[in-house]
Amino acid sequence: MKLAQELESMISAEQIADRVGDLGRQIERDYQGKDLVLLGVLKGSYIFISDLARAIDLPLAIDFIGLSSYGEATESSGVVKITSDLSRPIEDKHVVIVEDIVDTGLTMRYLLDNLATRHPASVKLCTLLHKPGRARTRIPIDYLGFQIEDRFVVGYGLDANEKYRNVPFIGVLKHG
Ligand code: IMP
Ligand code: MG
Repeated sequence: MKLAQELESMISAEQIADRVGDLGRQIERDYQGKDLVLLGVLKGSYIFISDLARAIDLPLAIDFIGLSSYGEATESSGVVKITSDLSRPIEDKHVVIVEDIVDTGLTMRYLLDNLATRHPASVKLCTLLHKPGRARTRIPIDYLGFQIEDRFVVGYGLDANEKYRNVPFIGVLKHG
């Protein structure tokens, strides 16, 4: 695949699949008998949430929220806009946010504060990746795929200017 050749692999498709299976089993165990909503943050989480949902053998609902951060493309400003809102209320539901990556944490801070005003029964965060070196605010991560160093990564849903989302592994651009 030509696209993949532009990347240096950081986390293989097999490593991702193993970890997503683990996360699914943990969530399955923790949400027995609860009214669970998986809430994907668009667009970066679209592949992760589809694999994760299939690793959870429980009745659950799936919804999405679109968020965009004003400011430079590679640096979160903390000023966040909802570009597409949830399709259903989450009042009294147990919500697990499904995110691609927590970087500065500013996007997640905004989302957690926003969701709290909708009175869910609980909110937890499942993120595939975390770059702790860049944290600007402390975000409690309940389910973590991989902690990574401070490099710009793409693939498995994550993009650079909308490119590389469809690469099946997580990698770093060889040039750029
Ligand atoms: P934060 O607000 O700085 O935590 O970053 C939020 C968003 O920036 C993430 O949900 C991603 O969509 C994007 N982002 C941060 N780091 C990366 C990266 O290394 N690759 C691709 N997208 C990233
Ligand atoms: Mg994101």
